[in-house]
Amino acid sequence: MIYYFTGTGNSEWVAKQLAIGTNDTAVNICKDDVNKEVTDKKVGIVFPIYAWGMPAPVEAFVKSLKLPADCYFYTVCTCGSDCGVVDSQIESVSGKKLNAKMSVAMANNYIQGSNCSDEAEAKRFIQAAKVKLAKFITAVNAGKVYVDMTRGIAPHVLTKAIHPAFLKFASSDKKFYATDACIGCGLCESFCSLGNIKLVDKKPQWQGNCCQCTSCINRCPSEAIQYGKSTEGRIRYYFHEEYAN
Ligand SMILES: Cc1cc2nc3c(=O)[nH]c(=O)nc-3n(C[C@H](O)[C@H](O)[C@H](O)COP(=O)(O)O)c2cc1C
Ligand code: SF4
Ligand code: SF4
Repeated sequence: MIYYFTGTGNSEWVAKQLAIGTNDTAVNICKDDVNKEVTDKKVGIVFPIYAWGMPAPVEAFVKSLKLPADCYFYTVCTCGSDCGVVDSQIESVSGKKLNAKMSVAMANNYIQGSNCSDEAEAKRFIQAAKVKLAKFITAVNAGKVYVDMTRGIAPHVLTKAIHPAFLKFASSDKKFYATDACIGCGLCESFCSLGNIKLVDKKPQWQGNCCQCTSCINRCPSEAIQYGKSTEGRIRYYFHEEYAN
């Protein structure tokens, strides 16, 4: 079984590529019916890196997962560039060693920090990711040990100091709002994996349980959602199936 979380679709695409390549099933940990008492012999976790660690819903999910002692356990994290020592975070939360682990650079979706990737950049990342995924899939099918992590500079500091600070100080949804460009379509409500958006008088209201996945702000068809002042005019991004063709 392959369990995945995604904000803007990169990790969903990776999880589905893995499912095809390993003849397995990919399930969305927030949206699908998930059995946490795992009996499978191979278990994969796929997710986007948030401040060099796991998104809060992924950490909670991994903590609650009951894994067979003898299963082959692997992870693929997607990121803009580097992933710190997220693998040690997974091992410590799950209590289980990873047999295979890989980070894959994909389009950046962290619009709160800077412009997201444009279409051309997103396509370049996907082509490079296909090459990496093919090697990883071969290793998983053979049940081999495999490590390909791009960790960044001072990765222990990134994961063990910056990640907790992100969870504590940069995960609030208080800065989100919809401008007059909002057409009241309600799509943002359905984009949020955490059910954190409610439409009131045809305008979104954020409910205080956000993991900063950026799905709402990046996918709003009217680009009506902003995060403070910083996101005005910035390039939005979400995964389009045709980028991978
Ligand atoms: C809150 C947040 C924090 C992020 N932190 C990092 C990071 O520490 N390192 C990195 O390389 N990319 C970072 N990114 C970029 C994402 O990991 C990357 O775009 C990912 O592929 C998005 O996956 P998704 O489309 O499945 O949501 C961050 C994105 C978000 C939204
Ligand atoms: S998706 Fe955008 S336009 Fe639609 S209701 Fe939400 S904020 Fe408004
Ligand atoms: S409110 Fe927006 S950023 Fe927060 S979890 Fe939901 S979709 Fe993601």
